[in-house]
Amino acid sequence: MEVTGDRDGLREACEAARAEGQTVGFVPTMGALHAGHRSLIARAREECGLVAVSIFVNPLQFGPSEDLASYPRDPDRDVALLERAGVDVAFTPSADEMYPSGRPEVTVDPGPIGERLEGGSRPGHFRGVCTVVAKLFGLVGPSRAYFGEKDAQQLAVVRRMVTDLDLPVEVVPCPTARERDGLAVSSRNARLSPDERQAAPCLYESLARAAWLVEGGERDVGVLKAEMAKRVGMEPLARLDYVAVVDEDTFEEVDRLRGRSRALIAAHIGSTRLIDNVPLRPGGVSENPPRD
Ligand code: PAF
Repeated sequence: MEVTGDRDGLREACEAARAEGQTVGFVPTMGALHAGHRSLIARAREECGLVAVSIFVNPLQFGPSEDLASYPRDPDRDVALLERAGVDVAFTPSADEMYPSGRPEVTVDPGPIGERLEGGSRPGHFRGVCTVVAKLFGLVGPSRAYFGEKDAQQLAVVRRMVTDLDLPVEVVPCPTARERDGLAVSSRNARLSPDERQAAPCLYESLARAAWLVEGGERDVGVLKAEMAKRVGMEPLARLDYVAVVDEDTFEEVDRLRGRSRALIAAHIGSTRLIDNVPLRPGGVSENPPRD
């Protein structure tokens, strides 16, 4: 595996693979790698000749009061994991390498889809995500880029950017990796105390309840949201940020379920903010059936 912190090194490795006719697959990450990342990399490994992974905690997507400084970082462990996963190129740039002139003056506007929900709770977040992802796509030139459904709004925003800007890359969505009790695997889970860890599955349980109600015929989003909020409200260590049901593609909130939709939740467990979501399929079987 080639490990480089250098933009030219990354570009050259990917160009050489393309020149040999290989398909380049790309998994952008912020490190603190876990089972969710491993599944994206495994999929890329199956489908592509060269697999590139970036590890970069992007300052642009963190607000002034967010957890940039304390975001979990373990570069040596991450690089060893990438090596074991059969990655070809690991890109580990510094902030100066990514943004040599400081904060970029030209950034990617994520549009209305980037202002709702996560974008409302975290102003500027999706502008930061789109800007770094566009830069990384420019450096890697991937045919396929792999994103987890755990960050469903990020996935929708990136897809929209790729469509609207005609970027020549296929965005491949990958299912959320979950712990045995349903908790979505996330780098931030490491921050939970044992009590908080026990409380954290309430996010998934509230989503699973909504999916179960939809399978039983419920279409009124007011009812679904009330049920989701009720489950989180029963957990003393949890503080709800939002529950929502959105159209899968536009991320606009809906009042009644008709087509492909997603139930979303964001909550603080202690001081750690977690998000999760599941698809809701009014006409068919849910991809994330309730566990109880
Ligand atoms: O999902 C993440 O880890 C980040 O938002 C991403 C896509 C690597 C951009 O910094």
